[in-house]
Amino acid sequence: MPGDPQAPQHSAADYYERIATAYRADRFGNSYGRFIDAEERRWLQATLPARPPGLVLDLACGDGRFSDHADVGIDLAAGMLRLARDAHPDRGFARADATAWPIGDATLAGVFCFHLAMHLRDDQLRMLFAEAARCLTPGGLLLIDVPGRLRRRLRPHRSDIAGWHGHSAHDLGELRRMAPLFTIESARGMLMLPLHRVPVRWRPLCARLDRALCRLLRPLASYQLIALRRT
Ligand SMILES: C[S@@+](CC[C@H](N)C(=O)[O-])C[C@H]1O[C@@H](n2cnc3c(N)ncnc32)[C@H](O)[C@@H]1O
Repeated sequence: MPGDPQAPQHSAADYYERIATAYRADRFGNSYGRFIDAEERRWLQATLPARPPGLVLDLACGDGRFSDHADVGIDLAAGMLRLARDAHPDRGFARADATAWPIGDATLAGVFCFHLAMHLRDDQLRMLFAEAARCLTPGGLLLIDVPGRLRRRLRPHRSDIAGWHGHSAHDLGELRRMAPLFTIESARGMLMLPLHRVPVRWRPLCARLDRALCRLLRPLASYQLIALRRT
């Protein structure tokens, strides 16, 4: 059941444990995946300075897709962490839940978290925000992506994996209430058009159109990329 509080705590991490070695090629190996990867990296680089005054955490770092932009990474799937460590031997990685970080109070300048919130129940997402509030210094930034609530209302999601895969969606008002120690610094949309259904040769043009539509009609985009600042 979507959002079932009785669902096994670590089902998402168990799933990613099983698909760890195939994850990168499967999700980001085609032109659609490369578009998403490039959009997210561009947003990350533009929003979180490369060398903020303090440590940066890649939360639910997976195989380390973006860990070059961080000092440390956390994930629950050991197989994903192994790949992240191999790719970034100079970074520190730890196996931990996104709801309880093995990190000291007020030690981070920035946190980013891609493709995790969509799998979490609201109580877990609240705990994630509480951990971010505890570990970030005042003024620190938390970057997170969520499926857009309005888009989900118009086009309901059918989960195919154990009821948790991408089952949640949020709007800015809900995030504000869940993260009371943060202000929303900025928000942008990603993916308005079904780019994966567009013939490959038309995708560059459609991607430009998609960006323009996301700027004009942000709440309607599939994903919301949100930057929150610790007060
Ligand atoms: C879709 S992958 C995203 C990985 C990476 N952030 C990226 O964007 O490529 C989701 C990741 O979240 C991790 N994960 C799932 N539940 C978690 C939890 N409760 N705490 C920490 N990590 C979790 C999974 O193991 C997986 O590596």
